[in-house]
Amino acid sequence: MEHTPEKPLRVVILISGRGSNMQALAECVQAERLPVRICGVISNRPDAAGLAWAQAQGLPAYALSHHAFPTRDAFDTALQAQLDALAPDYILLAGFMRVLGTSLVRHFEGQIINIHPSLLPVFPGLHTHEQALAQGVQWHGCTVHYVTPVLDHGPIIAQGVIPVHHDDTPDTLATRLLPVEHALYTQVLRWLAQDRVTLLADGRVQVRDQPHRAWAGPNLFN
Ligand code: GRF
Repeated sequence: MEHTPEKPLRVVILISGRGSNMQALAECVQAERLPVRICGVISNRPDAAGLAWAQAQGLPAYALSHHAFPTRDAFDTALQAQLDALAPDYILLAGFMRVLGTSLVRHFEGQIINIHPSLLPVFPGLHTHEQALAQGVQWHGCTVHYVTPVLDHGPIIAQGVIPVHHDDTPDTLATRLLPVEHALYTQVLRWLAQDRVTLLADGRVQVRDQPHRAWAGPNLFN
């Protein structure tokens, strides 16, 4: 079903820090009047800059500190209850630095999406830019993918690539990649709002009328 302003796609965004991907998503919804309702922004860090930004925008912003819970499971249980109450169609992880447990991931199977700063399946985990430089890869990038119980793993929805320059540092790579992340994630959100994204039985993803899901420049998706 294609979403409409009367029946918007309900999205919750999970963050832990700066929140620039969340900001790009929220600004895209507003600027393009996408039929998307951001029904919550949740941060596991109460002092996250992104949470303050969301609050200032009038978005429903919630802090759920993982320090308030004795175990990972207890945090997941509380997060799941909060998510259930917000009834999202999709949960978008945007720099969310907590690993979600299997039970929560299964509860929202096919509804959790993440952006990871590497061309998965290479370089899962942390320090992806350092890993890319250490391996001497000539292309680096980011991946928007469905979340499965395995960390930074799961059906790939779209990827963005940038060349690696001989004098790149982790910081220059991260800086050049960030706008590509924003463009990629907002494009995936448009597809979700148009109900064009399908998780196939073979574990791959199909986007209706969109054979190209690789971003290497501003116009590739058009
Ligand atoms: C991004 O590089 C994202 O891919 C990674 O963490 C970073 C978060 O940045 N998972 P921001 O909080 O969205 O600005």
